[in-house]
Amino acid sequence: MGMTESELYKFLNLAEDYLLDGFRHDHPPLSSGSAVEAGPGTPAGSAPPTAGESPPGAPAEAASGAGGHAAPGSAAELQASSSAEAAPGSLRRQNLDAIAREVAACTACALHRERRNTVAGEGAVDPLVMVIGEGPGAEEDRSGKPFVGRAGNYLDRWLAAIALDRSSNCFIGNIVKCRPPGNRDPLAEESATCLPYLKRQIEILKPKTILTLGRIATQILCGRSEGIGRLRGQELEYLGIPVVATYHPSAVLRNTDLRAAVWEDLKRLRAAVELKP
Ligand code: URA
Repeated sequence: MGMTESELYKFLNLAEDYLLDGFRHDHPPLSSGSAVEAGPGTPAGSAPPTAGESPPGAPAEAASGAGGHAAPGSAAELQASSSAEAAPGSLRRQNLDAIAREVAACTACALHRERRNTVAGEGAVDPLVMVIGEGPGAEEDRSGKPFVGRAGNYLDRWLAAIALDRSSNCFIGNIVKCRPPGNRDPLAEESATCLPYLKRQIEILKPKTILTLGRIATQILCGRSEGIGRLRGQELEYLGIPVVATYHPSAVLRNTDLRAAVWEDLKRLRAAVELKP
């Protein structure tokens, strides 16, 4: 079951309060308009948590409510609702595993030469959100898992702030599945060669919404050419699936001025998840 506008407004206020200050504030009741427009404003400085901030249990508390009951829109409740609509999970898992095996054996572009491990992606098989990054970095190349370095920890905190997480209701993938040497941008031919794997993953997963992280992921998935500063905030889609674009967590770690924009994008993502049947 989705949240009403008023529940969404309260939930986002609560998450923002805990993430920014560690305690709850009083907020005026929702008057009119959409929850996201009228919802928790982003006063100067409002933003998702910095990588170093750690309000213990804040997002989880915001998501699960007092007394251990699943709050409307909590990860547990949302997972249950999306599972009900999903095709058999075991078949999806098998198909995803088959793609991961193909990726592990892939030598279609030069990136395979220097990789230690391929990073096919991981997460829920009936996700509310598919998160798409650019390509593995050093730690992902070592572990074979997406977004496990500093940027990955930061990403986990963004997701937790809106009751999402990589194991129960998100799937995390990348445009290219092998690390570009020195963390350079993937070349156009490398992205083009690898893209069919991602497209097949999306087809299997059928996420309700997609979150693209950074310019490369957004441009390539949506076939656009503008910078991320222009792309974010636009109504984007991939084959009818709404795409919310935001900055890459690594960019936000380098430039904390981007945090307020990311928080706006995360609120839009949350609203998109709620709206999509
Ligand atoms: N950056 C990305 O774009 N993807 C990862 O998996 C890790 C870092």
